[in-house]
Amino acid sequence: MSRTFFVTAALPYANGSFHIGHIMEYIQADIWVRSQRMAGHTVHFVCADDAHGAPIMLKAQAEGITPQALVARYAAERPRYLDGFHIRFDHWHSTDSPENVALSQGIYKALRQADLIDSRDIEQFYDPVQGMFLPDRYIKGECPRCHAKDQYGDSCEVCGAVYQPTELIEPYSTLTHARPELRRSEHFFFRLSDPRCVAFLQGWTTGQRSDGSPHLQPEVLAKTREWLGTEGGDGQASLADWDISRDEPYFGIPIPDAPGKYFYVWLDAPIGYLASLMAHCQQLGLDFDALTAPDSPIEQVHFIGKDIVYFHALFWPAMLHFSGRKVPDLLHVHGFITVSGEKMSKSRGTGISPLRYLDIGMDAEWLRYYIAAKLNAHVEDLDFNPDDFIARVNSDLVGKYVNIASRAASFISRHFDGQLGFVGDVAPCQAELRACARQVQADFDKRDYGRAIRRIMAQADQINQAFDSARPWVLAKGLSQADDTRKQALQDICSRALAGFHTLTVMLSPVLPALSARVARELFGLERDFVWADAGQLPSYIHPFRHLMQRVDPAQLDALFEPPAEPLVAPGGEPIADTITIQDFARVDLRLARIVECSHVEGSDKLLRLMLDVGEGRLRQVFSGIRSAYEPADLVGRMTVVVANLAPRKMRFGESEGMVLAASHADENVYPGLYVLEPWPGAEPGLRVR
Ligand code: MSP
Ligand code: ZN
Repeated sequence: MSRTFFVTAALPYANGSFHIGHIMEYIQADIWVRSQRMAGHTVHFVCADDAHGAPIMLKAQAEGITPQALVARYAAERPRYLDGFHIRFDHWHSTDSPENVALSQGIYKALRQADLIDSRDIEQFYDPVQGMFLPDRYIKGECPRCHAKDQYGDSCEVCGAVYQPTELIEPYSTLTHARPELRRSEHFFFRLSDPRCVAFLQGWTTGQRSDGSPHLQPEVLAKTREWLGTEGGDGQASLADWDISRDEPYFGIPIPDAPGKYFYVWLDAPIGYLASLMAHCQQLGLDFDALTAPDSPIEQVHFIGKDIVYFHALFWPAMLHFSGRKVPDLLHVHGFITVSGEKMSKSRGTGISPLRYLDIGMDAEWLRYYIAAKLNAHVEDLDFNPDDFIARVNSDLVGKYVNIASRAASFISRHFDGQLGFVGDVAPCQAELRACARQVQADFDKRDYGRAIRRIMAQADQINQAFDSARPWVLAKGLSQADDTRKQALQDICSRALAGFHTLTVMLSPVLPALSARVARELFGLERDFVWADAGQLPSYIHPFRHLMQRVDPAQLDALFEPPAEPLVAPGGEPIADTITIQDFARVDLRLARIVECSHVEGSDKLLRLMLDVGEGRLRQVFSGIRSAYEPADLVGRMTVVVANLAPRKMRFGESEGMVLAASHADENVYPGLYVLEPWPGAEPGLRVR
């Protein structure tokens, strides 16, 4: 029976390039999708950029571009990675799209209609200089327990204490170093604590798919039971209501009937799955509403990493259910990829850059194979280990699998003109290959790829052994004088090896899409890709063997892990920024200015208020975060340099019309010291610095 699947991978944040963790997840999902398609099922495999949220807004602001432009920049580079690793989504969308706006607002309204939305005032830290409420990750301060400095707003990395940002001693905004203030504001909540939600989630999390397999892996189910309070205790659900709104300024989707309020990025992010499917349906002329209706037979499958289970196992099914849509059938959670046992870290340069991998000519299918061999159905981390990688690719993939074809094919081409021929009963051999393929297909379906690969390699071992023990190279000696029996024996053993190779390739097709497509066409003369039904079929003819796959050169792995270009100890604590042209520099209008007045700013322990003469016949007001280093009296009358064409910024204390230049170490807390720039004597206000 043919089935229809709607499959997604997690939507990557659109403020960075793909890293190896993303690629791993997409390869996992792509393998699954390809295997379903080989069974004749229909799959809609979609993804999208997760465009919204404060980090993207702030990063764009820091670069002086719109968030849309930032998202577009990363969106533009996605295909290089996806094509490069043979990851074939049917559609790639964005959460910053009309489809997502309509769907998010619609789902919200449906939840409100169902009386599952609440609003109440909450108190939160607000950065008066930046003019925005601060997400916890932008607040730092001294740990209330061990007094370690510069700890994040939610927990201490030194002593492990967990607390509220308001408990920090001397809190500061990491954006402006201003002291945050507590402010009240109205927020909207999804009432997950409602008994209807709890009851629904208890049902869904323990529920089953139509084939009887569970929605959740056992360890994920155990987690949700903890969260739902079903494990031990008094059975009382411990789910808290979920804060789904953010105040402007925010890059997000406006909340209907609530001016200045936006959906928190995690509300509209999973809805982006639907938005992408909707856009895909529009392109194909499919009925999106029917596919996503509660009674739709489509099977909805999400591949995600272990860090985002809460959103996908609780919020997301509840959002769908209570807005009258179909709920997910399967949530597959994977662990994290580590590199040589270490968590990925960009700064230490131990990560593998996916683009570098491709650029130095490494074969994408090596990585697909390696990842498949190491993945299982559990939420376990997966380590990329260079020696292990070389061993598996060279000994298993090339040594065991590819070699079968290169050895057997040459005899068949040379002595039998490409014709395969079998002696005796081939039915048992076919039956064995078919049985193996059926089990492998089931392993893929259950996401136990490691087991599938082990079976495939065990089968390859058998084929190699049978081939070697028949000693075809002996049979082939002086073949022109040999009798027919010897010729047929040679043809038979080579044909059996090639029939084995044929089915091995069918089984590896989800993992090695490019190589298997070539084998199907170039070696077996098929005009299509392999499907599961090809397993156990006996080919009757081969074209001459063409080289299929290189071995890994260990030098490539050295190149892959080359240390980052930046020196370890960078000047001033940070590496020199990317090269710019003289035209780039010329866009910054730097002018000499005289500090005419200078005063403290009421309510700020960071800022000084300067009145500057920039030679314009008027004075400019500029706020500068230099209070820790200078007294107003030290500055009055002195000359300095100001960015004169910086967009004016409204602050709580008034407008700031420029920026005074000062030098500091990247980590001011460790290396204090702030130095305002001053021209040599004799310079006049208004002169341009060039
Ligand atoms: N934008 C959210 C997801 C929204 S889904 C509606 C997000 N983005 S992410 O870019 O941080 O992560 C995307 C996916 O990559 C997640 O499934 C995450 O678990 C996965 N990975 C991030 N680092 C990873 C590894 N080191 N290893 C494997 N997967 C990892 O979260
Ligand atoms: Zn601490």
